[in-house]
Amino acid sequence: MRALIHDPDLTFGVVPDPVPTPSQALVRVASFSLNFGEVAYRSADVRPGHVPGWDAAGVVVRAAADGSGPAAGARVVTFGWSGAWAELRAVDTAELAVVPEAVDLGTAGALPVAGVAALQAVRRLGPLTGRRVLVTGASGGVGRYAVQLAAREGARVVASVGSPARAEGLRELGAAEIVRGPENLEGRVYGVLDNVGGRQLTQAFYRLEDDGVVMAVGRAAREAAVIDFELAGTRSARGRIENFNVTTPFGDDLAHLVGLLAAGELDAQIGWRGPWDKAKEAAEALLARRVAGKAVLDL
Ligand SMILES: NC(=O)c1ccc[n+]([C@@H]2O[C@H](COP(=O)([O-])OP(=O)(O)OC[C@H]3O[C@@H](n4cnc5c(N)ncnc54)[C@H](OP(=O)(O)O)[C@@H]3O)[C@@H](O)[C@H]2O)c1
Repeated sequence: MRALIHDPDLTFGVVPDPVPTPSQALVRVASFSLNFGEVAYRSADVRPGHVPGWDAAGVVVRAAADGSGPAAGARVVTFGWSGAWAELRAVDTAELAVVPEAVDLGTAGALPVAGVAALQAVRRLGPLTGRRVLVTGASGGVGRYAVQLAAREGARVVASVGSPARAEGLRELGAAEIVRGPENLEGRVYGVLDNVGGRQLTQAFYRLEDDGVVMAVGRAAREAAVIDFELAGTRSARGRIENFNVTTPFGDDLAHLVGLLAAGELDAQIGWRGPWDKAKEAAEALLARRVAGKAVLDL
């Protein structure tokens, strides 16, 4: 089959078709989306013939041998830590969800890592009704889902972006306030969903309410955070920072998010879409902060 492989750039190659384990379905990929992590750190992943890629949507061509998961012909959105950027993907049936006809496969393919991370991080913040929640990197893939999902939980969402242009569409998604970096935030917040790390994490922490919590989701700035826990006037009494990582399996959370898409209650925020031979262009746009939300590639 044809696949995108690293050499260490993104190029096409021909690799053997994947051989599913008994609990895996074989899926013909229709679309996949790019995530910051798999693009920014891809050189760490170079092995001969390795097919990267986390998120993909497509059609089941062979159901799992153990009888789990959907039958051949089902439209599905899938997650795994490799293998998405190819014509065929073998995927554990616990890591997929069925996509109804009303939902475009490319739209569903924009869900997995960004959508599930946002969903799980918002849940970990606890009850949000009436609480002020800051989302940093709100213009990006995780950020645009987090704004919507936190607003759905009743939070007053503050979206932090790098420039006014990057804020486009965020109010329509549920942001009540927009700030240009947490350093410009007035007052305090109960929760932070931090996608940027570094100085933004530091500044967000200094603005926590007494029992507030930061979910340290990402580190798009690729810099370390330095925090002075005794800085006068900034201390929240018991505010804490939690290291967040998505937990697998994704299947149930993907089904929930697909349901929201189908009901028109969630928007996948596709900011870049094109054929998969433009993967390099899409990856460059993502890292250059030129994509509002998700980049999706169609096969
Ligand atoms: N822990 C987990 O389980 C998990 C899961 C998913 C993602 N992540 C991490 O979460 C972060 C966000 O992921 P994503 O997919 O939403 O990425 P993304 O779509 O590229 O969005 C990242 C956002 O961060 C902001 N940003 C600020 N400074 C930046 C810089 N120096 N370089 C790049 N972006 C910068 C950008 O907003 P402005 O342009 O408006 O400044 C951008 O929209 C990444 O670090 C990713 O690895 C972690």
